[in-house]
Amino acid sequence: MENSNRDSFSGQFGIIAAAAGSAIGLGNIWRFPYVLGENGGAAFLLIYLLFVLILGVPVMISEFAIGRKAQLNVIGAFKKVAPRSYWYIIGIMGVGAAFFILSFYAVVAGWTLEYTFLALKNDFVGKTPDQVLELYNNLTSGNCTSIIVILIFLVLTSIIVSFGIKKGIERYSKILMPILLVIIVLLCVRSLTLDGAAEGLKFLFKPDFSKITGKTTLSALGQAFFSLSLGMGVMATYGSYIKKKESLGITAVSISLSDTLIAILAGVAIFPAVFAFGIEPAHGPGLVFVTLPGIFNQMVGGYFFSVAFFILLVIAALTSAISLLEVVVAYFTEELKIKRKVATWIATVGMAILAIFCAKYEAIFSFFDNTSSNIMLPLGGLLIVVFAGWFWGLKTLRSELEANGKKVYYFKAFVFVIRFIAPIAIALVFMDSIGLTEIIGRFF
Ligand code: TRP
Repeated sequence: MENSNRDSFSGQFGIIAAAAGSAIGLGNIWRFPYVLGENGGAAFLLIYLLFVLILGVPVMISEFAIGRKAQLNVIGAFKKVAPRSYWYIIGIMGVGAAFFILSFYAVVAGWTLEYTFLALKNDFVGKTPDQVLELYNNLTSGNCTSIIVILIFLVLTSIIVSFGIKKGIERYSKILMPILLVIIVLLCVRSLTLDGAAEGLKFLFKPDFSKITGKTTLSALGQAFFSLSLGMGVMATYGSYIKKKESLGITAVSISLSDTLIAILAGVAIFPAVFAFGIEPAHGPGLVFVTLPGIFNQMVGGYFFSVAFFILLVIAALTSAISLLEVVVAYFTEELKIKRKVATWIATVGMAILAIFCAKYEAIFSFFDNTSSNIMLPLGGLLIVVFAGWFWGLKTLRSELEANGKKVYYFKAFVFVIRFIAPIAIALVFMDSIGLTEIIGRFF
């Protein structure tokens, strides 16, 4: 039965817009290019796509199913679908991961805000790549302004969450995200027509398999989970708002496709320019921020597009950040019975403190960034599919997937993936990244 006290989205498009709003964010435009650049390019892209398909989509469907069945926050959901067991630990890990992620995410969102101001002041014009780099280094030095913009971003996020006006934002983002897409396509065109662009395309699309290491596969796995907002209950929370008459499979596939499309386009916009400007592809977290101004600089209407782009990127970051904060707030309100407004501000203050540490110390930033994506999310995803495939009961799972009255013809294949393929793949990637497969290989 659907619980009439909880809001639910008004239809297929509403859910896709909201869940896609969570998925599409800095992960696509900032993190994907930088992680791909650090991991050698095209070979990483291939593994990434494979992981989205064989791990991302099934994990997303499982999260949706659990959330929709339970109609509760992540921790409550696991307590309900698996009473008298320890599965709710997945939910606790998820709330922890939300803190970790939002802390460094707010820092990058802060950079985006600062870039919006710089774009407005027309500060990028005529700057050489070296000067842009200097600008970026200045912005990210953890000085007073960079802390203020982080706080602005977090306060905006909490205002939206505390008033429960997510839906309003999501309504706007339905219109705004397609505009962002158009600007990215224009950026691609400009980037591809720069001198020396071909080198960048080769880097992005011509795989060199000798570059694949345990670290590459783990980073691809982590990026896939991060970009799709998986492994910590965000999608379970959204699942709890999906109506029974909607298809979870179609929803998951549409979200994964749109998320992946935006990431690839971001890559096509960035890498030709990276090579044309002589920037190091493995530059790290600043990659996009040192490359983009150069492209805008050489674009007709660059001022207008750069302002619009950074504003839209802030909004994309906001719709992702509210999904993260919502996980924590749903837990505080539904499990700990704290009032919504109080819960939101407690969580925000905690995150703000962690975010300031991330802004001041690069090592903490990287630690949060890497640990959450490469360890917490895949581990959460592993536990979720193991639960859904082995412990939940296939009958319950099936009836939830078929709640709209339509037969799910891919059920057997889906169960095979969540029972065997996904857990084994994630376990192998973990083992490989700590060098275990190599050690075992020596014995054969
Ligand atoms: N997926 C978002 C992005 O790409 C970030 C995000 C939002 C997230 N919610 C999440 C990542 C939950 C992991 C888990 O920017």
